[in-house]
Amino acid sequence: MSFDVETLRAGFPSLDSGIAHFDGPGGTQTPRVVGEAIMRTLTGPLSNRGSVGRSEQLADDAVAAFRSAYADLLGADPRGIVYGRSATQITYDFSRHLAKTWNPGDEVVVSRLDHDANVRPWVQAAERAGAVLRWIELDPSTSELDTASIDAAITDRTRLVAVTAASNLLGTQPAVRAIADRAHAVDALVYVDGVHFTAHELVDVTALGSDFFVCSPYKFLGPHCAVLAAGPSLLETVVPDKLAPSTDQVPERFEFGTLPYEIMAGATAAVDFLAGIAPGGAVGRRAQLEASLHEVDAHELRMRQLIEAGLTELGETVTLWSRAERRTPTLLITVDGRDMGEAYAFLSARDVLAPSGSFYALEPFRALGLRDENALRMGVAPYTNERDVERLLEGLRDFVTAG
Ligand SMILES: Cc1ncc(COP(=O)(O)O)c(C=O)c1O
Repeated sequence: MSFDVETLRAGFPSLDSGIAHFDGPGGTQTPRVVGEAIMRTLTGPLSNRGSVGRSEQLADDAVAAFRSAYADLLGADPRGIVYGRSATQITYDFSRHLAKTWNPGDEVVVSRLDHDANVRPWVQAAERAGAVLRWIELDPSTSELDTASIDAAITDRTRLVAVTAASNLLGTQPAVRAIADRAHAVDALVYVDGVHFTAHELVDVTALGSDFFVCSPYKFLGPHCAVLAAGPSLLETVVPDKLAPSTDQVPERFEFGTLPYEIMAGATAAVDFLAGIAPGGAVGRRAQLEASLHEVDAHELRMRQLIEAGLTELGETVTLWSRAERRTPTLLITVDGRDMGEAYAFLSARDVLAPSGSFYALEPFRALGLRDENALRMGVAPYTNERDVERLLEGLRDFVTAG
């Protein structure tokens, strides 16, 4: 079975609004089944986790189903799936847990390609521990990480390398595996921000070489929450502060307080929805995800190429900053002499949503020299269709020519 975008769109009540959504990198629209799973869990019999009462068992089931779904999505061990409120919160938590063992003179590596959620927590934790901070630089001419600076940044003193699997600003997908191999050669840990990546690629945390991998389901059709995947034996070595009566078990000891069972059920439903887009004859959810995401990838690439072809026709005043060899269908543009905040409003008046700004990707934004201008970001999602792309390009053409 191949993937029919109009059938898929019918599963999203919000698309009836007529808005053409290119704001997926900030958060996608949500299918009906995800909302229904949240409502079913929340309004069904539901108590605190336990095994005595049926309502307790249902809460427990929601947690187990969540770990199993994210193990399938990420190619990970369900015993190493940690729930979090957001990727920012999980990363702050783990930066504090991990930094407990850092000493003055240890080194921590961050990149100029990353969203601030995978930069500032490490910068601040390193500062507190007296650790030295090193940077992997961005080459503005290619929008790729600078290979020489990867070699220079990782040394025998490196304790942790934090790097993105895909930039939410530019779409650039750096060579995470090569960076991880270099880090592992000096016994450093690798913390991968997969928030943007997971929306566009089938993740295999082992193949990537990540020790810790974080993603946020609201970027791929799920509710607002986050997931961290790590090996359970590695998690056993990480010791968070915790309440006296709360469990010391992994992964529960990283999940403070009562879990939001209904959000976990919604996040599970998002994985099932993705697996069902074009499962073909595949058996098992991981194989179905592989088949479906392969189709989604091909569709998104086609939409990206249509947008890119349209941008070239807009003339030389338009600069496309997304130019890495391997990248997601996320496109960042500026227009000479024009304020992209105005473009955002101009498009929005036509119900085409492509926001402007730096999107918390402060480091790459600065490295590209975009300090004083706004940039416009267009993201393709599984539900993007050709009509959306036509409306986007018509709007951009009118904006550029009106200047
Ligand atoms: C690449 C990337 N990393 C991290 C984050 C932060 O995610 P969260 O909102 O779950 O904290 C975002 C959000 O836009 C992102 O795009």
